[in-house]
Formats: sequence, structure tokens, C-alpha cells
Amino acid sequence: MTSRKTWTVILAAAALASCSSDDAAKDAGPSEVTFPPDFMWGSATAAFQVEKGLGNTDWGIWVKTPGKIANGDDPDVGGPDALAHIDADVAVLKAANQNTYRFSIDWARVYPTRDAFDADQADAAAIAAYDELFAALRAAGIRPLVTMQHFTLPDWLSDPREPEEPQGWERPETVPAFETWCRRVAARWGGEVDWWVTINEPLVAPLAGYVQGSFPPGLILKIERALEVGRQEVLGHAKCYDAIKAADTIDADGDGETSWVGIVQHQRAVEPELPDEPADVEAAARVRYLNNLWFINAVVRGDWDDDFDGNLDGPKDRKADPALANRSDYLGINYYSALTASARGLVLPVVDASIRQDRLLTDRPKTDFHWDIYPEGLRVILEEVRPYGLPIVITENGIADSADKNRARYVLEHLFQLGLARESGLDIRGYMYWSLLDNFEWAHGYCPRFGLHTVDRATAARAARPSAAVYANAAKTGKVTRAEIDALPPYGEPTYCE
Ligand code: FCB
Repeated sequence: MTSRKTWTVILAAAALASCSSDDAAKDAGPSEVTFPPDFMWGSATAAFQVEKGLGNTDWGIWVKTPGKIANGDDPDVGGPDALAHIDADVAVLKAANQNTYRFSIDWARVYPTRDAFDADQADAAAIAAYDELFAALRAAGIRPLVTMQHFTLPDWLSDPREPEEPQGWERPETVPAFETWCRRVAARWGGEVDWWVTINEPLVAPLAGYVQGSFPPGLILKIERALEVGRQEVLGHAKCYDAIKAADTIDADGDGETSWVGIVQHQRAVEPELPDEPADVEAAARVRYLNNLWFINAVVRGDWDDDFDGNLDGPKDRKADPALANRSDYLGINYYSALTASARGLVLPVVDASIRQDRLLTDRPKTDFHWDIYPEGLRVILEEVRPYGLPIVITENGIADSADKNRARYVLEHLFQLGLARESGLDIRGYMYWSLLDNFEWAHGYCPRFGLHTVDRATAARAARPSAAVYANAAKTGKVTRAEIDALPPYGEPTYCE
């Protein structure tokens, strides 16, 4: 296990990070923040959450399993049906002054069977649909930011009906297959895309799927299997990075680079549940390391901490492995909120901590999803990644707010913090709001409403919420002022969604 010395170093670094950002937050600071003309203003979706007809994925099987999805919601019924509404989505992006759209291309849609994948017989309708999306984006002058894997895997790699069998990333064939998938997508659409994401939130899916049980394969406390998924995703990411670099030879946007390939991490501002309790402070340091730093250390520095213990002394650990290092041209950061760690409660092995990410015992305002609203936390997590020295894109940030009473303030306050981070020397390239549309929020179904736009459950018609205009104005002017934030109503009570 982790030596006391290792954790002391990690704790000291964390204290420094939070100290400097707290000071910055307290400082009244400038009256406005500005963003450069080439800043990427966008919003994000993921295929399974907005498309339909993905029954041949692990998630497609999972949603048909009784009791797994809130209210029995089904992504095939009453969702955005995005591939049938491409013009509508591009129109709302355009109307909201967005110059970037983050979405994922679904592996199982393009290759519905293992045979089709092995023979490289891509599904013609899938190719036509994504071609149409790229053409519409190009015509509207909107840059695509494309994710290769956003939580779902084809059912020929992952089948939650057999949870005891190795799933998805646990199978030895998945990493090489993913490499092939990335190479083919980059070769086919490299002329349209310069900004790529390999894997969305590599640790969220295994923690939800093997520890918490809310994602497929729905297992509880299978920590070792979850960690193995994380390890395989590091390998898959590195292979995918190399494949994209080799296959995407076209500079689509004329910036002199043919591709920017990055990992997307779900970073939380990790806090001790009881700030004055030393055991909780140490628990928070361990969770922060696992959640926020472990994966990045591997794919940026090549530091492979096989046993997740915070040092590189283990028998399988490696420092600066050249097969892993320098495999993220930028860091994609999804930031929503804080989480708390404690030395009490349901203590998970490896991190030796219990973790809570909703209904935190803080006095911060909450979202409809019971998450804390904590804009200053964005700077906390950005300070943690400053040492990596990489460009950063906020690939997701958003709020579940069905009444749209808190979204405008939420967005502007986060953008303000982002502007401060930029002015402090961080190389921030863009901000993607999650989400362009109300969509299928995994185990929670359609209940949480993250969209800048509503989607009529019967007609799939899109309509802008009032906050969309506020975000559109920031994108148009390239700035956010304290005065406009102050003019907004204070945060109101959420409309909790179960
Ligand atoms: C992120 C996911 C995204 C969405 C938001 C709310 O963790 O990447 O698909 O579910 O949370």
C-alpha cells in the first residue's frame, strides 16, 4: 500500500492547489473576463444519449433490463433522435453562436456485428448519417469535436446479460479492436475533424459499472475488475492516439495541425467530508489521486501505477513508459461539481475511503440532480492539472435544471472562473456546455434536464431555453462581465428529479 511519504507529497500538492485557487476566488478580481476570437464555444452530446436504435450495444441491452433505468425510460422512445434531426440541431447550434459541436460516433452503429467489423463492412446507413452530420456542420462553419467512445460498447464486445464473463475492456480483443476502430474513423473523417477524444471519462464507466452497479454490467464492489478496465483503457487510449495520429493526415481547420487527440476526464473538486478530520483529509487525497490524476499521469507522463497506490514502487509499476507517455495533445476536462471523501461509511478498498458525489453535506446550492453548484471548484481542478503543461478544453460543464432558473448563472459563473484561469496563464482552448439538448441521462433516463434546448417528447421538436441566449451572448461577445452575472437572480431551489 501507499507509503506515508507518498501521500504526504500528494497532500502537500493538493493543499497548494486549493490554497492558491481559494485565494484567487476570494479576490474580487476583474470586472470582466475575455476569450480570444478563436476560442471554441460549443456544446456536447453523446450518441447513445441522443440517437436511437443502438440496441446492439451493452447499454442497449441494459436499458431493456427491467428496473435498471428510472421510470423505465427507453432511448428509442421520446428522445431527440438526433440522426433524423441533423438540420434542427445544426440550426440551434448556429442560432446559439456556437462554433464547435462535441458528439460521439457510435462504434456499434457503424459496425453492427463482429463479422462486419472484421470484414470492414461499415453499415451504409450509419456512414451516410454521419456524413450528413459532418456536411451540415461544415456548411454552418461549426467545428466537430469527435469522441470515439462515450460509455457504450458494441454488444459483440460487452454483453451485460453475462456479467460474470469478462466485459468490454476486460477482454483481450478490445484494445486492438479499439485501435482499429480509431484508425478507420480517423481515416474516413480526418478531412472533417481535427479535434478528437479517444475515451470519455475512462474511470466513470467502470466505477459505475463494477462498483456502484448503475451502469452495465451492474456489479457491486468488484473493485479489481473495475481497476482492470481502467488499466486496459489506458492501453486502448494510447493505441487509439497513435492510430489517429497516423490516419488523420488532413488539417481540416487550417491551424497547421492535422489532429489534436486527447483524453476526457471527469474531474471533481475532491474535498474531505469533515474538513477538520485528518483521516478525511487523507481520504480525499487518495480519492483525488485516483479520480483526477491516475489516468492523466499514465497517458501524459507514461507513469503506470499498476496498483493505484500513489507511488511507482510496485512490481508492475513503470515510470515514463515511452509506449504511454505524451499521448494527450490536450486535456479534455468534464467538470460539474465537488465530491467528498471520508474515512468512515462504506469504505472502498484501494482508496480506503467512502465517496459521496450527490447530496453533499455542504451549504452550496444544488442542481436538480442533487449535485453541488460550485463554480470556484473549476479553478481548483484546473490548478491540479497545471503541472502537466497541456492545452485544456472544457469538454463538458452543465446543470440539470428543468425550470431553467439557475442555468444562466451557472454557465456565466463557470465561464468567469474559466476566464480567470486563462488569465492566470492556463492554455484554455474551449468550453462545451453539457448538453446541447435534453437527452437520455443513462440510469436516470429523461428526468434530469441538462439541455440548452428542450426536446418535445412527442415530436422531437427543439426549442431554446432562455439560458441558451445568455450563453449565445457570451459566445458572440467573447466576454463575461460581473455586472451581467449580478443582474441574474440568485440560485433558486432545484426541481429535484428522481
Ligand atoms: C458526464 C457524462 C455525460 C453526461 C453528464 C451529465 O459524466 O460524460 O454523458 O451523462 O455526465
